[in-house]
Amino acid sequence: MMHNPGQILDEVTISDADFVRIAGLVRSMTGIDLQPHKRAMVAARLAKRLSATGIGSISEYCTRLERGTADDEVSHFINAYTTNMTRFYREHHHFEHLASDTLPPLIENARRGGRVRIWSAGCSSGEEAYGIAFSVLDLCPEARQLDIKILASDIDLDILERAETGHYPKSDADNLPGEQVQTYFDPLPGTPDQLSVNQQARDLIAFRQLNLHAEWPFGGKFDVIICRNVAIYFDLPTQSSLWRRFGEALTETGVLYIGHSEGIDPDNSHLFQIAGRSVFRKNPDNKTTAVKGTS
Ligand SMILES: C[S@@+](CC[C@H](N)C(=O)[O-])C[C@H]1O[C@@H](n2cnc3c(N)ncnc32)[C@H](O)[C@@H]1O
Repeated sequence: MMHNPGQILDEVTISDADFVRIAGLVRSMTGIDLQPHKRAMVAARLAKRLSATGIGSISEYCTRLERGTADDEVSHFINAYTTNMTRFYREHHHFEHLASDTLPPLIENARRGGRVRIWSAGCSSGEEAYGIAFSVLDLCPEARQLDIKILASDIDLDILERAETGHYPKSDADNLPGEQVQTYFDPLPGTPDQLSVNQQARDLIAFRQLNLHAEWPFGGKFDVIICRNVAIYFDLPTQSSLWRRFGEALTETGVLYIGHSEGIDPDNSHLFQIAGRSVFRKNPDNKTTAVKGTS
């Protein structure tokens, strides 16, 4: 299919071969497994990118990405195929588990001068990371004075930019306990239907772009990794490698939270013990099988 540069395309028709090529590029760059039923979505998003770049055909577009001659386009291409759906307090049993089981000993450690690192991996528009910050501050109002940090990462730069604003429609905070809304949000002047996360919660979080399917730019370990509803979009080898790498990235007593429809594969089950509903603690003796199948 050819079109004139600058022409606005509502949709493109993609052949089987084009779909396979696009899906291959997305998989190699991100680990995301685009299933055939996503074809209409792929066509619509591709149409937007062809219009925006003025590139004349799907084939040429793919060739440029494959040859690395479209560096400016890579992040737009990736952003087009991510799914950013999220909300405050999603799978709220995780936040209850954090508050009752995982955070209290970590905070005790931080109060004795220790270091606490929490990673919201695949944080999307930030609700998960801010929710974790609220949970920390509920238990430890002085957290900003201690060595407690939350890394919030995502591959998608557009959504990260939104996360960093910390601005949300008032109605989005309906899921949160009322006290947290009172304590951790300010009104946003001039926009009565919006709230802004306040500074004490923001100060705990560093937002960074990070591709879970590439090298990770840190050596330190995490006490908690929360990676929910991200691996579900990956192909199985990428999922398996992610669980193994999370096992390596956790401290000896580290805890991993995953999405309700995700599961640790048998190759990595020995790395973790079940610690709750889709919650896993690193297995101190990882020679024994601790997790049977998925949970
Ligand atoms: C459905 S959202 C999940 C948000 C949040 N964790 C939750 O459970 O509500 C999935 C996020 O994973 C991100 N993502 C997808 N592939 C990624 C990759 N290879 N590396 C890092 N983040 C990725 C997407 O950009 C998206 O924001």
